[in-house]
Amino acid sequence: MKILVVGSGGREHTLAWKLAQSPHCSKLYAAPGNPGSAAVGECVDIAADDIAGLLKFAKAEAVGLTVVGPEQPLVDGIVDVFRAEGLRIFGPSKAAAQAEGSKAWCKAVMMHSSVPTGEYRALQSAADAIRYINNHEEPLVVKASGLAAGKGVFVCKNQDEARRAVATIMNENAFGDAGSTVIVEERLSGEEASILALVDGTTIYSLESSQDHKPVFDNDEGPNTGGMGAYSPAPVVTKGIQKQIDREVLVPMVHGMKVAGAPYNGLLYAGIMVTAGGPKVLEFNCRFGDPEAQPLLVRLKSDLVEVLEATIDNRLETITLEWDPRPAVCVVMASGGYPGEYEKGKEITGLEAASRLDDVVVFHAGTRAEDGKIYTNGGRVLGVTALGNDINEARDRAYEAVSAIHFHRAHWRTDIGAKAIRRLAT
Ligand code: AMP
Ligand code: GLY
Repeated sequence: MKILVVGSGGREHTLAWKLAQSPHCSKLYAAPGNPGSAAVGECVDIAADDIAGLLKFAKAEAVGLTVVGPEQPLVDGIVDVFRAEGLRIFGPSKAAAQAEGSKAWCKAVMMHSSVPTGEYRALQSAADAIRYINNHEEPLVVKASGLAAGKGVFVCKNQDEARRAVATIMNENAFGDAGSTVIVEERLSGEEASILALVDGTTIYSLESSQDHKPVFDNDEGPNTGGMGAYSPAPVVTKGIQKQIDREVLVPMVHGMKVAGAPYNGLLYAGIMVTAGGPKVLEFNCRFGDPEAQPLLVRLKSDLVEVLEATIDNRLETITLEWDPRPAVCVVMASGGYPGEYEKGKEITGLEAASRLDDVVVFHAGTRAEDGKIYTNGGRVLGVTALGNDINEARDRAYEAVSAIHFHRAHWRTDIGAKAIRRLAT
């Protein structure tokens, strides 16, 4: 069967790398892909949000399975369009992708379904939002309701910062229509974790836990990014916490979406804060996390094609996921300046030496190939991922590989996995 992976980031290289290993995959296409996916398949020059172009290609090539990496085409309804044409595609419908595409919708479903999450208001005008903030002295988080490429969330220290966030989103229109509604939310404290679950009509199957590192600098300092590294499993998610998340978060949310007329089929990502009062939801995403997919999929032993097909066909209950028990750590190497301005086009060296190390896979994200050389081409450039017998070994291997790779103004966090190591030491 021919398989098409939509997207061009580190997550999409990882999906392509894993899917191409399946005996069910006769040919892998990546649209538009990157030099990493080009090593396991063929890149086709169609943008991830060009739904008409992707449909035309999938039909012409008789693609048997399309797997969508990023949220934008899902929120735009790529799954509905493909299914209407009789094509098989993994991901939620446009209605169900609102779990990520509209934080206001998602919060409303959570409230109706009693899913634990922060107190909030959805507000349609800056004046209403400011009035609400003026009446709340506790720390708040201000979010654009729509898609903002991970940049529409402001974790505020005080009311002044919250008011400024409203001005950025609503008066300066920093995120366009995505900011026509804002969510003002109680600020939660605790340790974060990502729980990704496969969901079909009736069955929910959580993957192993993982943890992202969103701020750009060590010790969670600096602005939030798309994610500077991840590891799996996350020790903060004990067996008890996982059970609580399954029972109190995933089951009611999946039921609530069905009741709301938006039944979910695909990968549902719950961003969780493990608070003193138990797990609470920060957000839902409608796709694999990036970079969580990197450590998760290097640990997954099962055939991903079979797993995704079972989800599409509503027979998840027939599948058992097999995991490598060893932990994995992914360190993101980024362009200096990211998530602000940064330069592109810097030559990357040392990729082969890094990939030759035991149990190391270097996933490409923002890279470009030219004349046999690889250059930087984005903010997050590489996801250097390693397995180890324990988290210390996985981390040491990942950083050994990082130190073999060079490009001008490369930046990475030096503390990926530190929270897990600290937790396991106590
Ligand atoms: P989101 O895209 O909603 O997950 O927000 C991005 C990041 O902002 C999260 O990973 C958290 O680090 C932080 N965040 C979002 N909502 C809250 C909240 N209610 N309390 C504390 N931090 C939050
Ligand atoms: N790593 C966070 C995300 O994929 O949204």
